[in-house]
Amino acid sequence: MKNNNIQNLPSVDTSRRNWLKTVGLGAGAVALTGCFDSGVKELQAAGMKTEHFPTATPNLNDGLIRLSSNENAFGPSAKAVEAMQGELFNLNRYADATVNVLVKKIAEQEGVSEEQIVVTNGSSPILFGYADWITKNGNKLVTSMATYEGIPRGAEFMGADVTYVPLDANMDFDLDAIEAAVTEDTTAVYICNPNNPTGRALDPVKLTEFAKRVSQKAQVFIDEAYIEMSDAYPANVQSKLAAEGYNVVICRTFSKIHAMAGQRLGYAIMPAEQAKQMGRMLRMGGVNYLGLVAGMASMDDHNNLNVMRERIKTERLKLTSTADALGRPYAKNPQGNFIYMDTGMPHAEFAEKMKALGIKVVGRTWPGYDTWSRISIGTPEENDACVSALKAVYA
Ligand SMILES: Cc1ncc(COP(=O)(O)O)c(C=O)c1O
Repeated sequence: MKNNNIQNLPSVDTSRRNWLKTVGLGAGAVALTGCFDSGVKELQAAGMKTEHFPTATPNLNDGLIRLSSNENAFGPSAKAVEAMQGELFNLNRYADATVNVLVKKIAEQEGVSEEQIVVTNGSSPILFGYADWITKNGNKLVTSMATYEGIPRGAEFMGADVTYVPLDANMDFDLDAIEAAVTEDTTAVYICNPNNPTGRALDPVKLTEFAKRVSQKAQVFIDEAYIEMSDAYPANVQSKLAAEGYNVVICRTFSKIHAMAGQRLGYAIMPAEQAKQMGRMLRMGGVNYLGLVAGMASMDDHNNLNVMRERIKTERLKLTSTADALGRPYAKNPQGNFIYMDTGMPHAEFAEKMKALGIKVVGRTWPGYDTWSRISIGTPEENDACVSALKAVYA
């Protein structure tokens, strides 16, 4: 067995694994993608393997540094990569049985029942499935302005009535105003914590109390895509609400701190009956085997998660300090792998200027924040280049 923490997985025989290495798919060959990070020694000192790190801008031929999609520039856990390598010859079967292994693991970690969990290829299918669920269950969503569009835009697209409540003075979800906007007719409330694009994290006690009250009227969906990056993780996690039977959905992805955006794995915790319906609709058989294998190995690699959180924080500080030095307003104390900054010009003009200097920032904007732009955290070199570009834009 390649990884003792993964149960019920078929093992690959060693001779095949050796052959993999010979033809260039083994651990040695993965090192060909190169170590580009000047902080590599620091990571190694923290006990991390770094040979498997990706090149700075994988899958991109435009030569730009990609700070546009909130991907984890540091790459996945070495243990996740190793676990996938060990399973490359076991891709011929559907992954349903392995989904059950992950479900059990999540149930144990989150303290919920297995029946409450839906697993998908990344969390986006859950968001769109949920938008569809809203339209079939009263058709009314309340959320905030300047938040992740998956559910609100999906619901709008499907014909739902979406109320967008303005952010408060700190650029937080205005929980009081959202609560006031919820009526007996409201189907669901979408909260993103930490929020994309602002990066702001809500006070966990306030959010818990809000969810307990509001979920008596409407279901509260909490998207925790970036939760493991927040300083107060795991105190910020709200899955206890689902364990206690509140009418909530907690959604997670492996695309962010686990750095598996291209591999795809996500899950949600919700009331058991709803999970049964949604699981049927989203087809559990649609989950990919390598994602499951990698996800489970990554969940067990606590050291990797802790190092990632610190690493992202250090690099994030580089960008917020630059914004401070340049006098640019930004959403304070961001808790994800991105910052949200008032560029002082139309966002598209800022994006063009940054592009001319080799940096790709987010391409879209959020209504009401037309001069604001989101910049993702990259590797130290990428962030240094970003800092230089910012200084040049505001010279
Ligand atoms: C808040 C939030 N939720 C969900 C997603 C969807 O990610 P994925 O489908 O890769 O899980 C994203 C992607 O950026 C996001 O920012």
